[in-house]
Order: sequence, then structure tokens, then C-alpha cells
Amino acid sequence: MATLGVNIDHVATVRQARRTVEPDPVWAAALAELGGADVITVHLREDRRHIQDRDLEVLRRTVQVPLNLECAVSPAMIEIACRVRPDLVTLVPEKREEVTTEGGLDVVGHEAAVREAVARLHDAGIPASLFIDPSARQIDATVESGARAAELHTGCYANAGTEAERHDRLVELSRAGSMVRAAKLDLHAGHGLTYRNVVPVARLEGMGELNIGHSIVARAVLVGFAQAVREMKALIS
Ligand code: PXP
Repeated sequence: MATLGVNIDHVATVRQARRTVEPDPVWAAALAELGGADVITVHLREDRRHIQDRDLEVLRRTVQVPLNLECAVSPAMIEIACRVRPDLVTLVPEKREEVTTEGGLDVVGHEAAVREAVARLHDAGIPASLFIDPSARQIDATVESGARAAELHTGCYANAGTEAERHDRLVELSRAGSMVRAAKLDLHAGHGLTYRNVVPVARLEGMGELNIGHSIVARAVLVGFAQAVREMKALIS
């Protein structure tokens, strides 16, 4: 059975919209754990647009399930990771202009840098996972890099415009998943997964962990909205 990594970045996105103290992703992590999250995932971006260094440090001290840090392949980020010591580091591509992580890490094109980052993490006793497109070339390069896990980017599956395309993308993920498992790497997947499209991905053979953020945060805002309004109304009246 696949486990659930809850990505709480967008709780911090709402806070950063006002540069205030609420909502606190640390609270969200505790509630996610109460809800059954198997892993808490955060992405410390170089531009610090949502999760801040303080969040990562407090989360490291408070989260009781494994903490997965997503970060870019940069010496500064690897240094932070080695200092904070999450339970897993998932290396992701990062571009300043992007709205979210678009596409997987080009391990083939950045083999030396990725290999060095993985080695630094492993020397520090922190397992590394690579967030990659479901392609044979990228999986081969991931295996070569020494990473312990591959997280397959499910964005093309999630964004498929037709049922036929979605089916093709699922087959692609399934084949990629078999390659990852045959190489004895842990199999993770994520990006764009929602309450509507998650089940076929969760059912893929050997799926270890799904990392889901936006859809859970979006739903939390809506399912909590009526109660939040009732509480404010009670105060006013
Ligand atoms: N996995 C990785 C590596 C990601 O970068 C992201 C987005 O931050 C996710 C999973 C979660 O994607 P989503 O927010 O679309 O569920």
C-alpha cells in the first residue's frame, strides 16, 4: 500500500501572501499527522516564496513522522539539508519564474552535480531521492547517481486532456515504476495528484510513497471555510 507524504508548502504560501504568522505550516503538519500523514514534505525554495528556514527548523524538531525535504541541487541547499537532517531529501529542479516544479530533474544533463549532491547527502547519512520524469534515460541516470529512491513526476498524467492520453501516461508511469523497482530503488510519485486522479497511481505495482500538496491544501480551505465564518460571526455578534 502506498504511503502519503503531505506537502504543506501552500499553507506557507497563504501566510507569505501577508508576511504574517498565520497559517503556520507547523500547525498544519501536526494536523496532517493527526489525519494520518505518513510523511511531511516541504520544499525550501531558493527564493523562499513559501517555506522559510524557520519552518524547516521547527518542523525538524516537531514532526513525528519522517520529514522529506525537497530542494534544488545547489551546494547551499545541500549544506542546509546536512545541517537540518531531514529523513529524506528529494532533489528537484528549480527555476525562479516557474509557478511550481515544472518537469523532473534533468539528471542526464547534470550528472556530475547530482552525483556530488547525492554523495554529500549519503555521507551525512541522509538518503536521497530524485524527482524525475518517467523516462528510461532519466531512470538509468538516477540509478547511476547512487540515489536510493526515484519520485516519478505525475504532471503529464494529471494534465492529460483526454482519457486516451491519461491511459497512455499511466502506462508510461507503470513502465517507469517497474524499471525503478527492478533497479532496487524505492518508488515514489507526485505532482498534480488530486482526489479524482490519485487512485490509478496509488494502485501501480510497488508504489511506495505519493507526495500530494496542492489538492489537499485546496480541499482543507474549503472544508474548513464554513466553520471559520461561523466562529467570526459568533465573535462579532
Ligand atoms: N513532489 C514534488 C517533488 C514536488 O515538487 C511537488 C510540488 O511541490 C509535489 C510532489 C506535490 O505536487 P502537488 O502540490 O501538485 O500535489
